[in-house]
Amino acid sequence: MSARPWWRDAVIYQVYPRSFADANGDGLGDLPGIISRLAYLAALGIDAIWVSPFYTSPQHDAGYDVADFRDVDPRFGNLADADALIAGAHERGLKVLFDIVPNHTSSEHRWWQEVLRSGPGSEAWDRYIIRASDDGPPNNWNSIFHGPAWSKLVTADGVDTGYWYLHLFDSTQPDVNWENDEVREEFADILRFWFDRGVDGFRIDVAHGMVKDPALPNVDYAKMRQAELLGSSPEAPYWDQEGVHDIYREWRRIADSYDPPRIFCGETWAPSPERLALYQRPDELHTSFNFDYLKASWDRQAVQRSVANTLLHHAKVGAPPTWVLSNHDVVRHRTRLAPGFYPQDRHCRPDEVRGLARARALTLFTLALPGSTYLYQGEELGLVEVFDIPDAAREDPAWHRSQGEDLGRDGCRVPLPWSGDAPSYGFNSGTASWLPQPPSWATLCAQAQDGLGDSTLEFYRAALRLRRARSLGESALEWWDTDGDLLAFRRASDTPLMCVINFGDAPAILPSGTVEIASMADAVTADHLLAGESCIWMTPS
Ligand code: NOJ
Repeated sequence: MSARPWWRDAVIYQVYPRSFADANGDGLGDLPGIISRLAYLAALGIDAIWVSPFYTSPQHDAGYDVADFRDVDPRFGNLADADALIAGAHERGLKVLFDIVPNHTSSEHRWWQEVLRSGPGSEAWDRYIIRASDDGPPNNWNSIFHGPAWSKLVTADGVDTGYWYLHLFDSTQPDVNWENDEVREEFADILRFWFDRGVDGFRIDVAHGMVKDPALPNVDYAKMRQAELLGSSPEAPYWDQEGVHDIYREWRRIADSYDPPRIFCGETWAPSPERLALYQRPDELHTSFNFDYLKASWDRQAVQRSVANTLLHHAKVGAPPTWVLSNHDVVRHRTRLAPGFYPQDRHCRPDEVRGLARARALTLFTLALPGSTYLYQGEELGLVEVFDIPDAAREDPAWHRSQGEDLGRDGCRVPLPWSGDAPSYGFNSGTASWLPQPPSWATLCAQAQDGLGDSTLEFYRAALRLRRARSLGESALEWWDTDGDLLAFRRASDTPLMCVINFGDAPAILPSGTVEIASMADAVTADHLLAGESCIWMTPS
């Protein structure tokens, strides 16, 4: 057995409970549904699962609006189901990460309910960010879900207090005040509650957002948009503030006090790979999501630049990088990478065939990189983003708060197709699903792909098997000198491995060696050329 901690090169699969598997047939996935599919997950060849929130919640933001962090929402099951999920995963050799949401609570949380019954100067008010202002909101901050980030604080009896509260997300998600000691103690205790139940770690929601500049200065949004156009995340007085690192030093001490130590992965939208790496200093978070890589387009230079910068800055702090291409907040990468995809155009019809070729190629490339990789449920089936969801079925608060201008994230959250040729495609034993599944998904069901040599599911299984067999770990990555549309690197594992991807449309000459796996059945031609939009792993000769 290797002494390397498991999380340094793990493949972690994101389970989004409401859309994964539905045991009770109400159209919303649940914990017993996940338990029923653990064998499928173990056979896929992953190392761990990360489960998005299933806690008590009014579901105004699909569970990221938590009313009780220590209990399970009845729609998803109960605490015994959570325990059974942890135990069942462990029995199959899978680690389990849950999701902690420390930036805000639901307005149905007992703390906010207490705010509505209290007044200025009270302990209850100090747990949130509440300010007086006579002429409109205290500053110009916008909610990530559109509209102002401040709402009037109106008491339980409907009295306008003249105060405003901050919510960087929906108005039902008030931001908590991390300057308050009780807040810090409460979240430390929530960590311990789940660690004591055996959970192996946490994904941290909005990990870069808990501390705000105390002066609450106005934001220059024109400058922020400019930064985004240039490919970096917005710098704002509520993101990536120095004080947030103190919280993680304390959390790391808690995680390290367990045997085996528990781990963290931050949802850290840092403005640059350099700033991101600071969260992975040895006494802070173990890992963070690397969104710089997710944001790179289908472009040789952009991908190479992001990989190189990520490796450089993580090496400085001795931390392994993570890689991710899809999650429940972004357009699925089969669609995002496809020619003809235009964000926010619900009428765009991306080329799904080329999208799949590119997605499989970039996935294979990603799985060869040093460090750990996150997969999002359904990408192993080649699922596409769903655009034509009826307006009435959409649930994302971003859709509602923008009056439909922002399509929101429902398109990547459609319940998984498992089997059969009609909805709910085995999501449950009936027909219900909280978002409608498109008819084209009949051919994408797990059952339809099982055992089919060139299916996307079998491709993922084979790639994960090979990755594990080669124990690529964190061994050094050496770029191979290429030009044109090829990008290639070599990994110095026991048996050296070379990964070559072709970002162009035309076939390109491959280095000599034996091909171990290809992203598509016809990726390598008879005369040893690599077809356009494909990727291979090979043992160089
Ligand atoms: C990030 C989560 O991934 C997203 O789904 C959620 O809406 C926001 N944080 C707010 O919690």
